[in-house]
Amino acid sequence: MNIDQHKETFFIKTFGCQMNERDSEIMAQLLREAGYSESFTVDDASLVILNTCSIRAKAEQKVMSLLGHLRKNLKKNPALKICVAGCVAQQEGVEIIKKMPHVTLVIGTQNIYQLVPALQYAAQGGSRVVTSLAETYDIPRFLPNFSAQTPAPPFRKFITIMQGCNNFCSYCVVPHTRGREVSRMAVDIVDEARVLVENGVKEITLLGQNVNSYGRTNSVVAGGGRKGYGFASLLKDVATLADSGLQRLRFTTSNPKDLDDELIACFADIDILCAQLHLPVQAGSDSVLKKMNRKYSIAGYLSLVEKLHKVCPSIALTTDIIVGFPGETDADFEETMTVLDTVRYHGSFSFKYSPRPGTRAADFLDAVPEEVKSARLTRFQQRQDEISLERNQEYVGSIQQIMLEPEMGTTLLSRGRTESNHIVHLQEPFAGMPGDIIPARIIHAGQHSLQGAAEVSG
Ligand code: 5AD
Ligand code: SF4
Repeated sequence: MNIDQHKETFFIKTFGCQMNERDSEIMAQLLREAGYSESFTVDDASLVILNTCSIRAKAEQKVMSLLGHLRKNLKKNPALKICVAGCVAQQEGVEIIKKMPHVTLVIGTQNIYQLVPALQYAAQGGSRVVTSLAETYDIPRFLPNFSAQTPAPPFRKFITIMQGCNNFCSYCVVPHTRGREVSRMAVDIVDEARVLVENGVKEITLLGQNVNSYGRTNSVVAGGGRKGYGFASLLKDVATLADSGLQRLRFTTSNPKDLDDELIACFADIDILCAQLHLPVQAGSDSVLKKMNRKYSIAGYLSLVEKLHKVCPSIALTTDIIVGFPGETDADFEETMTVLDTVRYHGSFSFKYSPRPGTRAADFLDAVPEEVKSARLTRFQQRQDEISLERNQEYVGSIQQIMLEPEMGTTLLSRGRTESNHIVHLQEPFAGMPGDIIPARIIHAGQHSLQGAAEVSG
């Protein structure tokens, strides 16, 4: 492709989940390989990409208002190209161009690997909407490339191991925006992890909408023909990189309905697997879970929690909660509060239900009034804050292994993260490298973080 390296610069703004973060990195690598360089502000860029999220209405509104603002940049720089990627792109397609005619290209979630030719084609008057969603496809082998133009990776990275979702939880837009579940080839994932570790990465998080079902839809391809190759097998394969310097392994997200004993056992069997699990429960009432199409009961969920604690007593559990799902009664909500008090999550993400176009729940009639949703959310979050503080206090006096990370906007290493994923602020900055693991004595607990003192000198 014939690109003037001095002219073509890109800026990517990412919304939403870690899958989008990783997709943005892939797009950045493709653009660099095509001769673009990265710009750190919108104003200096000749191409702006908004990688969007549509999980809740608010996230989508943000994108539309930003696209409106970008009109001003176009006035200053009429050659500016604007691209919309991600879930809003997939779902809205041509509607985006109709509302925002200054958009150059709308590219769907399965089409990012064609970003560069699609941009070129659109700029030459070709199609401006590339959003095909195939029933089944192979995710291309794509390895990180840390060459002269690409900075070395930070000490911690995500690897996407699968795309899409087959679960159709009735509130969720993801199966509509990301299509059917497809797993990447295990060999590609392990090779990607190896490249990262060889370039200094110490912690890897494996990503998927429901990692527990890795390999289930295309097991022969994903596992390279190995029978019964599933997520536990993949975890074990990635964990062999501990010999090459990988120190921590995490994964997200797990749908409880697919969390099996083999995977639970990994928390005991794999040394570098961190004692932490995000296990979204979504609601505490069986009747709400049924309407959500979650396919597990609260009793089943609590028995998983029990098994996890048995296998790994120090495990820190976090969850996602939706309040105000259609038809959720006061009594249903009380059951959510009971689950919170039973599991005593270390932390949680909680949301007011937001109807999403195309989902089954969007047609449910018995909407919960906004003020009831708000009151439930506040109550849930207040109780969670109290529990988080109590959970954090349990660490006071203990020695935790923390992985050092730079404080936002500085190079000082004055904080680190425990295996359980708690942030520890150090009394004194430590003279080490991001990714180093040091012992720290926990001396104080706050609601959202811990304070500690290094037990070794830097
Ligand atoms: N409304 C509110 N929250 C939602 N989530 C997913 N869809 C919706 C929706 N329509 C939440 C779920 C999910 C998290 C990523 O976002 O809790 O686990
Ligand atoms: Fe959405 Fe459910 Fe799939 Fe998660 S498992 S992405 S909540 S449909």
